[in-house]
Amino acid sequence: MLRTHTCGELTAENVDQTATLCGWVDRIRDFGGVTFVDLRDRYGVTQVVFNPAHTKAPAELVDKLRSEFVIKVDGAVGLRPDGQANKKIATGEIEFNADQLEILNACKTPPFVPGQKDLPGEEIRLQHRYLDLRRQKMMDTLVLRNKIIKGMRDYASDHDFIDIETPILGRSTPEGARDYLVPSRVHNGTFYALPQSPQIYKQIMMIAGYDRYIQVARCFRDEDLRADRQPEFTQLDIEMSFVDSDDVTGLIDGMMEKLAKDLLGVDLKLPLPQLTYKEAMTRFGHDAPDLRFDMEIVDCTDIAKKVDFRVFRAVADGGNFVRGLNAKKGTEKYSRRGIDELTKMVQDDFGAKGLAWFRVEEDGSLFAPIAKNFKPEELDEIKARMNGEPGDLLLFIADTWEVSCKSLYSLRKRIGAEMELYDPKQMHFSWIVEFPMFDYDPNEKRWVAMHHPFTAPLAEDLDKLESAPGEVRAQAYDLVINGYEAGGGTIRIHDSETQAKVFGLLGMSDQDAQERFGFLLDALKYGAPPHGGIALGIDRVVMLFGGLDNIRDCIAFPKTQKARDEMTQAPNVVEKIQLDECGIRLKTPLKD
Ligand code: AMO
Ligand code: AMP
Repeated sequence: MLRTHTCGELTAENVDQTATLCGWVDRIRDFGGVTFVDLRDRYGVTQVVFNPAHTKAPAELVDKLRSEFVIKVDGAVGLRPDGQANKKIATGEIEFNADQLEILNACKTPPFVPGQKDLPGEEIRLQHRYLDLRRQKMMDTLVLRNKIIKGMRDYASDHDFIDIETPILGRSTPEGARDYLVPSRVHNGTFYALPQSPQIYKQIMMIAGYDRYIQVARCFRDEDLRADRQPEFTQLDIEMSFVDSDDVTGLIDGMMEKLAKDLLGVDLKLPLPQLTYKEAMTRFGHDAPDLRFDMEIVDCTDIAKKVDFRVFRAVADGGNFVRGLNAKKGTEKYSRRGIDELTKMVQDDFGAKGLAWFRVEEDGSLFAPIAKNFKPEELDEIKARMNGEPGDLLLFIADTWEVSCKSLYSLRKRIGAEMELYDPKQMHFSWIVEFPMFDYDPNEKRWVAMHHPFTAPLAEDLDKLESAPGEVRAQAYDLVINGYEAGGGTIRIHDSETQAKVFGLLGMSDQDAQERFGFLLDALKYGAPPHGGIALGIDRVVMLFGGLDNIRDCIAFPKTQKARDEMTQAPNVVEKIQLDECGIRLKTPLKD
């Protein structure tokens, strides 16, 4: 070992001991020939003092030190002079009086240094990720990530789960995104698909009798990226046999309770609250609502049917919805200009036709330019329905169910953040259950699986599978943390007949189904136990536990929004010979 201690280890208890430290030069200050260096490693920072009065290393060598040089220092531990202790760090009471210095490696002038306050843009940070990863915040996050994964694995192990690896080179498993394809050299013209999830393999493991499976599984999805999505991400993948929905959610309840307690010191009350999909859409307009604050959607369609205000009346009479939100005490925050911005958002983002609003005045009356279209008793009814009190801002969207859900969800989210209706450190866990089995895709004119096609319907809805697919609810559950979908799973279909029926409903011919999933349909005929499971998005859990708002900060080497690795410049052009070997000719050759 080159060192005897780390840079986070020496304290007043070590005074007068000699030691050898290694690390990176974080900060250098020169006070009249005495040089102070903050020496940094993963464990902390130690203040090293080079003083010609006791340091044997030549002053010229000390003068060479620059930011991010890697050095080795021999010396002795001393107490800092009175009044100079730094209580914020573990080593803050001592200083390390250097004797010898060895420069282990120099560092070019870096484009940024880890301790820098104003960091450069993300592109530069990702290009030089080795520098970026030296930042304390990044180190803290990756340490947290490690603790979360270890906590999940330990918990699963304590509950008799076994960790089984499944292939990366495999067949396409549909999870609603495009596949990443890998051409086969041995079988020209054929491709492996990287797994969008290990879904089928884990179900096969249940059929094989491994009744409690977990895997920290890398998944690959070629889809539009957002702040909470990566093309390559990690799931805690779980599958269990002989269980129902409550068994799976109960297991995860316990896991979240333990992680929240151990890592955040937060006590969760179990069972975690459950909301049906329908309830979530009705009350919050979304299937992953942020429940850290109230402000629920209120339906006023029945009132709208009675009023003269054309905008409301026409929508309500047309079978659509007039629903609103009460931004409590919102009149101060949102002036006319503020309301215009909210209006523009719902118009631009969701095609809402407008945003109707009322201010509740000090005397309790409703004020708005549109108020003249309403009779006094109608205004009273609206105010009562919305629980309007002086200072409140009432906002309404009159539109289809879909537009009203999207608009009101988005307004609620924005107002919640802008009016600081919750403590950003607060954590809220809940389940959304009973999702619809299918969504109708008007472009493709067919039903698509809302979760994935292996999901079992609720037993009481089975008879509607063919007559009214849109009404069939699934045995599905999503874990929602602070308004993000952190995990999702279902009880699976375990008989081949129902599975074939569902493939059929999804527009797959028998032949298609046989070609793509024949092996699964077969396996289901060889003694498949009832089974179900879930996958948690580990990157998202880290983001939420770490109080971060970007998934890229939770992954050591993430991709950009354009699915590029800025450091290695992947994806990249390959040699022609590699393409030839795979039997691939590019439509537009990139280079010879
Ligand atoms: P699902 O597709 O819901 O389910 O994925 C499970 C969880 O994985 C996370 N996740 C992502 N995280 C980062 N980037 C992405 N692109 C991304 N996509 C998904 C989310 C999500 O809740 N096989 C099923 C699980 C099952 O049924 O057991 C599945 O993959 O947090
Ligand atoms: P208009 O009569 O179109 O000028 O609209 C009067 C007010 O109603 C404006 O504040 C619009 O933003 C609002 N508005 C118009 N259409 C809708 C709608 N579909 N839902 C909610 N508010 C609307």
